[in-house]
Amino acid sequence: MTNTKQKVRKFYDEVGWKQEDDGNYQNARYEDLRPVSSEYIRKTRLRVLNGLLPNGRFLLDAGSGPVQYEEYKTYSAGYQKRVCLDISIQALREARNRIGQHGWFVVGDLAHLPFKDGAFDGAVSMHAIHHLALTEHPNAYAEIYRTLAPKRTAAIVNGWSDSPLNRGAENLLRWFRKLRGLPVKEKKKLGVDSAEGTFVEKINPAWIRRELGSKMTVEIKVWRGLSTNTLRSYVRPFGGRVLLRLVFWLENAFPKFFAENGQYPLIVIKK
Ligand SMILES: C[S@@+](CC[C@H](N)C(=O)[O-])C[C@H]1O[C@@H](n2cnc3c(N)ncnc32)[C@H](O)[C@@H]1O
Repeated sequence: MTNTKQKVRKFYDEVGWKQEDDGNYQNARYEDLRPVSSEYIRKTRLRVLNGLLPNGRFLLDAGSGPVQYEEYKTYSAGYQKRVCLDISIQALREARNRIGQHGWFVVGDLAHLPFKDGAFDGAVSMHAIHHLALTEHPNAYAEIYRTLAPKRTAAIVNGWSDSPLNRGAENLLRWFRKLRGLPVKEKKKLGVDSAEGTFVEKINPAWIRRELGSKMTVEIKVWRGLSTNTLRSYVRPFGGRVLLRLVFWLENAFPKFFAENGQYPLIVIKK
């Protein structure tokens, strides 16, 4: 196992999937957990169902973590078993606590899946492939494709390396704060380890078309346009819910724009 993968595993075993004082996993820090955003967040998580067939025998959850949010359980509701694969045993212990008999739990590497061709009637992978070095991303997609049964689909979510929409929103806020003489936070660099996180490397829509387009049928759909930073900066308790209903409506009305310029696409692979 590469050094990077060992570091990622250690991070999730010792930090990411440990509960903090508020009862949430450390990993939940990257989500906007405020009540005002909850409806938008919940509805965007359910968009994964737009990329999955509803019924089948086995659903693969590659990099499952603990299946931490209630909406995640709906992905496998019509499947006999959810096969949770993760590099972190702590993730799988927690997943077993949450879905019990409905799950099978496998420690493994999503870039080298220990399953036979065509084993799954569906697959999801949420925020996990980005923990691989960029050179291994094609393997991860190829492995999900290989283990998918013919005519079935996989739904994959990872953030883009750059989101013009959220970059614009962030720059606008910085400009506004500067104008008012308020302190402006330094921008965080992507693609590096940070004190509270671990290794991530992200891609862009051109990468998806170039690396996957000739090998499999792939569609870039919208999952969630707004980043956690944008939500925290712009969505206020008063009027925030209405604003987010408008955003959600806009995402549905202009899916191609939000899929490619927003923060998180839903990559749908068809076999
Ligand atoms: C950000 S968490 C996401 C977990 C879950 N899918 C979710 O959306 O809540 C990333 C998960 O991917 C797992 N992971 C990272 N690299 C992996 C690899 N090479 N193979 C399998 N799992 C991996 C981590 O252990 C962690 O549980």
